[in-house]
Amino acid sequence: MTAAGVLRAPAAVGGARILGVGAYRPSRVVDNHELAPAIDSSDEWIRRRSGIATRRFAAPDETLVAMAAAAALKALAHAGVEPQSVDTVILATMSHLEQSPPAAPRLARQIGAAEAGAVDLGAACAGFCHALAVADGLVRSGHSRYVVVVGSERMSDLVDPADRGTAFLFGDGAGAVVVGPADTPGIGPVVWGTDGARSTVIAHSTPWTALRPARPSADHPAEPRADHPAEPPADRPAWPTLRMDGPAVFRWAVAAVPRIGREALAAAGVGVAELAAFVPHQANVRIVDAAAHALDLPPHVAVARDVTDAGNTSAASVPLALDRLLSEGAVAPGGLALLVGFGAGLSYAGQVVVLP
Ligand code: UT7
Repeated sequence: MTAAGVLRAPAAVGGARILGVGAYRPSRVVDNHELAPAIDSSDEWIRRRSGIATRRFAAPDETLVAMAAAAALKALAHAGVEPQSVDTVILATMSHLEQSPPAAPRLARQIGAAEAGAVDLGAACAGFCHALAVADGLVRSGHSRYVVVVGSERMSDLVDPADRGTAFLFGDGAGAVVVGPADTPGIGPVVWGTDGARSTVIAHSTPWTALRPARPSADHPAEPRADHPAEPPADRPAWPTLRMDGPAVFRWAVAAVPRIGREALAAAGVGVAELAAFVPHQANVRIVDAAAHALDLPPHVAVARDVTDAGNTSAASVPLALDRLLSEGAVAPGGLALLVGFGAGLSYAGQVVVLP
């Protein structure tokens, strides 16, 4: 029995930390020469303006859930955590093209965590860092013991191959981490926020509702057809693809990322000299370099530049870059990494983490 109006809460634990990391990169490598003709561009321009040399595009069977599951299973193996011990699965994505059902329950089932709580989280390119903060809170508060956090994207489904501002920028892939309990905090306080006044700088060309068949009205009475009741009107607009005011986002990002980074470092009580790695969202290598310069990172800090051959993989980019730094031995387990996600919303989230 508890006192009236006072609920039981789980016992909090000392901290949470990342226990394992995993990645999945689709097999098809797409170089700039393949994309350039449709956007009247060149390999030279794309490399100079974005730093991107190649990216991966998923095949039909490399679904968002299949890629997420492959990354999550690697992260679980790295963590030494059995799938059936997972309490919660959080899938950060902006390219799951079904309003319902969410993708996370299928992901949970595919990795053998069929009874876990499982939710999709939408914060575009900042989604992974948001999801990591939620996982940290769940584990530290004692609500979940093990949380799988995945960023998985098929940006090639959203991008118009003829759009000069985005066609060369985005790529597909998935990255995952396992978060579990620790004696002391291994995930620093999150610094997050939004600027909804600038929601149109990265947005779809048209809303999905534009694809809906016209509703019956007095002028256009319904003519139900048993064989194809939802036939779209002949003047149906094209598939809504992603559009971006690149220069506006660029200007925002080069100012915002160092500020978010400094605030996340201060919140965790960490100085730049203590960092082993800087892993910002992989939007453009010029943004990565400008932020690293503004943060005045000492030379020993490894700076993630996975964008050069992954492209911008939105919510997957931070865990993909993290996985690469660890697997290539650029950083050692136990080191500190500063993560910063940013993108459509506008949304951002950053935190300092102890590497697994
Ligand atoms: O992940 C979410 C967050 N996203 C980002 O952070 C992306 C931020 N933005 C960017 O990374 C950059 O804005 C881009 C890489 C998308 C574009 O680079 P930019 O340096 O901002 O180029 P711009 O759009 O200012 O265009 C510069 C020039 C223009 O020509 P003029 O006016 O200087 O003659 C464009 O018409 O390049 C031209 N241009 C192109 N040329 C060849 C624009 N797109 C292309 C293209 N190929 N694809």
